[in-house]
Amino acid sequence: MVVVAPSLLAADFCRLQEQVSLVEKAGAEWLHFDIMDGHFVPNLSYGADVVRQLRPYSKMFFDVHLMVEEPLNFLPMFESCGADLVTVHYEACSDLRAVINYLHKRNIKVGVSLKPQTSEQVLEPFLDDIDNILIMTVEPGFGGQSFMFEQLSKIKSVTDMVGERDICIEVDGGINLKTAPLCVANGADVLVAGSAVFKAPDPAEIIKQLHESGE
Ligand code: DX5
Ligand code: ZN
Repeated sequence: MVVVAPSLLAADFCRLQEQVSLVEKAGAEWLHFDIMDGHFVPNLSYGADVVRQLRPYSKMFFDVHLMVEEPLNFLPMFESCGADLVTVHYEACSDLRAVINYLHKRNIKVGVSLKPQTSEQVLEPFLDDIDNILIMTVEPGFGGQSFMFEQLSKIKSVTDMVGERDICIEVDGGINLKTAPLCVANGADVLVAGSAVFKAPDPAEIIKQLHESGE
């Protein structure tokens, strides 16, 4: 079954704990945290303390998406915040191998994300060493954007490239009840959804239907 990862970026920041419980009770397996530095992307969000403070309140798998330049410099801040997985951007790393080693040494899973214009081929040399590939289906930086349909073929290519390896394929940006089934049909295992979940009148119902898009 497909995993649903609500993105906290679209939650009501005045009621974070309540919103996290709501999506957890509705069956979301992962919680997606978008960390932005105002350099790699033209926006700021929040930092490791938000992840750390929510950790005691949830058993969900904490999925941290770092949209920051040179993530190696930020990893000391994130290694003890309770993240299960830290995903960095291929484009932001001068030494991706060092990032992978740093996180694995601390028993944190490693993901690599690709902006829409970045070819999946760049990941070939790292396939035996990563746990997650995050395919951006919008330009990173903001929630609420429209899904880029041309990324569907990339999802398929990544699925073929990964083959039998134990790597999750995660999609992020513009995921809703219309686009989720297309992503799943092309091989996505994890659906990140911000606006579609948190801006809905009934987030639990959307989570249920996103799960059904994988059946
Ligand atoms: C965008 C972030 C996404 C964002 C998705 O840079 O990586 O995780 O929260 O938001 P929606 O689902 O609203 O497109
Ligand atoms: Zn994200």
